[in-house]
Amino acid sequence: MKHKTLIFAHRGSAGTHPENTMEAFEAALQAGADGLELDVQLTKDLVPVIIHDETVERTTNGEGWVKDLTLEELQKLDAGSWFSPAFRHAKIPTLKELLQWISSTHLLLNIELKNAVIRDSGLEKIVLALVEEFGLTDRVIISSFNHYSLVDIRKMNAEIEIAVLFMEGLYEPWNYAKQIGAQGLHCYLPVAVPELLAGAAKAGMPVRPFTVNEDHHITALLKGGCSAIITDWPKRAVQIREQLF
Ligand code: G3P
Ligand code: MG
Repeated sequence: MKHKTLIFAHRGSAGTHPENTMEAFEAALQAGADGLELDVQLTKDLVPVIIHDETVERTTNGEGWVKDLTLEELQKLDAGSWFSPAFRHAKIPTLKELLQWISSTHLLLNIELKNAVIRDSGLEKIVLALVEEFGLTDRVIISSFNHYSLVDIRKMNAEIEIAVLFMEGLYEPWNYAKQIGAQGLHCYLPVAVPELLAGAAKAGMPVRPFTVNEDHHITALLKGGCSAIITDWPKRAVQIREQLF
């Protein structure tokens, strides 16, 4: 039997490399992942950059909010030493740099708009324009916890895939997703219960739970034929998939 479940590397290969850096994305490609998940925000000078937290303290040697720092200021920061001294040269990538690199690979790309806290920055329009410029709309899935933002994307582009991100045990979320024009469900792993997986499959809606890191969870979702998993450990997930199928 051929496997059906795609493996998306969460923030790149975040288990083995500093999250959301080119080093982590390259490692995910080498691991045999099918796609990447990454987080995007705007700098003070409105450049989309790849970083998870709204502030830089946890993953760099800098201080402050991403929205208050210019690209030049952000790119001076060391985005790797917090993970390991071996990665002291890692930088915060721009989305443009990533799109350039990914164009030469086969990878799918889940861009998560990090705009649930910092809203109304115009992030949607800027990200969409870049994806369109690179001709990557058919390889990109846009997701966000801010569903108003997803609707904005849908209004600007009728084709690009959008997926709702959620943490709670919603009832029949595929109905809600369809209502806002979304094609996918990106749910927190604990709410990826059998009723949701079966119902979404019946409704023809892909489910891509996050963050699926334990071997037994990876195995169960692969065996169940889940559409995709989003994991910090793409290499291990690919190995498990190879053993199973
Ligand atoms: O997109 C899936 C997942 O990344 C959402 O949560 O906090 O890891 O960005 P977070
Ligand atoms: Mg994310």
